[in-house]
Amino acid sequence: MAELPSAFWSGWVAVITVASLIGVFWLIYSIYFTKGGRDAEEPSPVWDGNLREGEHPAPLWWFWLIFASLVISVIYLMLYPGLGAFGGALNWSQGGEIDRRLNRYQTEFGPVRRLVAEAQLATLQEDAKLMASAQRIYDRNCAVCHAYDAGGQANLFPSLTDAAWQWGGQAAQIEHSIRHGRLAVMVGWEAALGEPAIDALTDYTLALGNGAAAGHPAEAQYMQFCAACHGADGSGNPLLGAPDLTDDASLYGQSPAAIRHSIGQGRSGEMPAFGERLDDAQIRLLVAWLQRS
Ligand code: HEC
Ligand code: HEC
Repeated sequence: MAELPSAFWSGWVAVITVASLIGVFWLIYSIYFTKGGRDAEEPSPVWDGNLREGEHPAPLWWFWLIFASLVISVIYLMLYPGLGAFGGALNWSQGGEIDRRLNRYQTEFGPVRRLVAEAQLATLQEDAKLMASAQRIYDRNCAVCHAYDAGGQANLFPSLTDAAWQWGGQAAQIEHSIRHGRLAVMVGWEAALGEPAIDALTDYTLALGNGAAAGHPAEAQYMQFCAACHGADGSGNPLLGAPDLTDDASLYGQSPAAIRHSIGQGRSGEMPAFGERLDDAQIRLLVAWLQRS
């Protein structure tokens, strides 16, 4: 009870608790074992013509029941926190209990988790049970955005099943995406270049996808404004998260309208960081699961 405002209040809580216990004991004792109450001479009242109130006390086992619970309360208050700031003889606390359980968890599972965190991906991928727990970790943490089949959704959350990796598909790159998150920044160009240029660049991007970009009227503009991030050949740059514009995969959709929106208004997708929420073993399992073929 360290959070009690002062020793003064702690003292009061203790005094009131002890006084209540003594009070309850005195009450039941006086009911069962002291002579008193109504004078024996005084006739007991009669109700409704023939209902006599009578003087029978409650059965004696009630006394023992209440007495036993008082004894248990006293023992409890001696062992556990309850009497003001007194921590109890066992020194038990909720925080301490959590620490103890965490420690037990670490000693029981710590070595296994370290093994998993340092294992070869191939070894993990061969273990069906580990892959099943990887899938559970995925379902719980990632599926809301990337969908249960990891196929992505809503033209907002990328597919994690195809060969196209915006931020790179090597184990270390995927691990970085999960652990630290990713923030993609592509500013919109409509304000700077005007509508006709955006239309032309949209057409150029579509042409990139069809392998027909060479000699396109917007080629010079693309080289000037876009190539620094997306590459002269449109193949993207995983360091910047700039997607490959030539492949079939696309994050925000293949339609001319979606592409036009990306170019004109910009895009800024954010993958949240999971380094604090998942431990090394869980992240390792996810990387293995995402890279399995
Ligand atoms: C709140 C939604 C959200 C959640 C939850 C989420 N992600 Fe993402 N993730 C995104 C978005 C959005 C992107 C794309 C960021 C961008 O535009 O570059 C992304 C990108 C990624 C990438 C990079 C893809 C690429 O092509 O390089 C990986 C890998 C990834 N997420 C894995 C995961 C895993 C594993 C989890 C679960 C631990 C997860 N994500 C949970 C939204 C989410
Ligand atoms: C500063 C680097 C940068 C520049 C310059 C840039 N982009 Fe991007 N572009 C990106 C990034 C990063 C993304 C991914 C945005 C996201 O994931 O939210 C992207 C996304 C896109 C997309 C959407 C791709 C998809 O999969 O849906 C298109 C289309 C695109 N850019 C075209 C262009 C064109 C055309 C230009 C030139 C006018 C251009 N970009 C200039 C960095 C850049």
